[in-house]
Amino acid sequence: MSQGPTAALLAWYDRRGRDLPWRATTDPYAVLVSEVMLQQTQVARVVPRYEAWLVRWPTAAALAAASVADVLRAWVGLGYNRRALRLREACAVVTREGWPDDLTALPGVGAYTAAAVGAFAFGRHRVALDTNVRRVLERTGGPVVLSPPPGRAAAFNHAAMDLGATVCTARRPRCDGCPVRAWCPSAGAVAALPGRARRPRPRFEDTDRWVRGRVVAALAVGDALPAVAPERLDRALAGLARDGLVVRGRTGWRLP
Ligand code: ADE
Repeated sequence: MSQGPTAALLAWYDRRGRDLPWRATTDPYAVLVSEVMLQQTQVARVVPRYEAWLVRWPTAAALAAASVADVLRAWVGLGYNRRALRLREACAVVTREGWPDDLTALPGVGAYTAAAVGAFAFGRHRVALDTNVRRVLERTGGPVVLSPPPGRAAAFNHAAMDLGATVCTARRPRCDGCPVRAWCPSAGAVAALPGRARRPRPRFEDTDRWVRGRVVAALAVGDALPAVAPERLDRALAGLARDGLVVRGRTGWRLP
């Protein structure tokens, strides 16, 4: 075997990579939609939502022209609602001005999303460091061992994401099935591998974020507001109003 670890990773991806709908496009709008959805929600749940979204709003201009209420309604269940608003704002910017060279200039686009859209849509030489990819690089020894070959940034990023999601997992990596095992200083050293620190987390139902999500979901379909303690409801409504996600009309709270 004369190939190096990056070539082994890419060969593995050719054979075993996940076939996901956003991998079949280089349309920056579609890629941006997928990446924003994937920030909060698992791949399997994103797939149908992504496909429906692109049928409804096939272009950045179409999304920019949608009402805030329609966008929020279509986002229910996908996590932080503010992301949906920023996605719409970003589409308004690119509709007016085109895609900027510095993608982080767009609302809601941070370093990770800029790198992902840069690599997947524009073929730029970027590594999108999400949690999975960061872990893969930490364990294998970093860019000296694994880095995108010229012109293969998209495939490299997809491959590293898949390796982290399916093989080089946080707690029980499957080193036996790993294409870069031969080069990996962490291979087999499960106990010593850096995994996610286990800290106690509050139940999601006890968080403000949960209440905010229930409020938007209720207003989206005309249901009653969630039955939670009044101070929790007030706090959620005040926060949502501050973020422009709800407004108080004459007859009560509604989506903008
Ligand atoms: N998570 C974030 N971006 C992803 C992508 N493009 N494919 C699969 N999982 C992802």
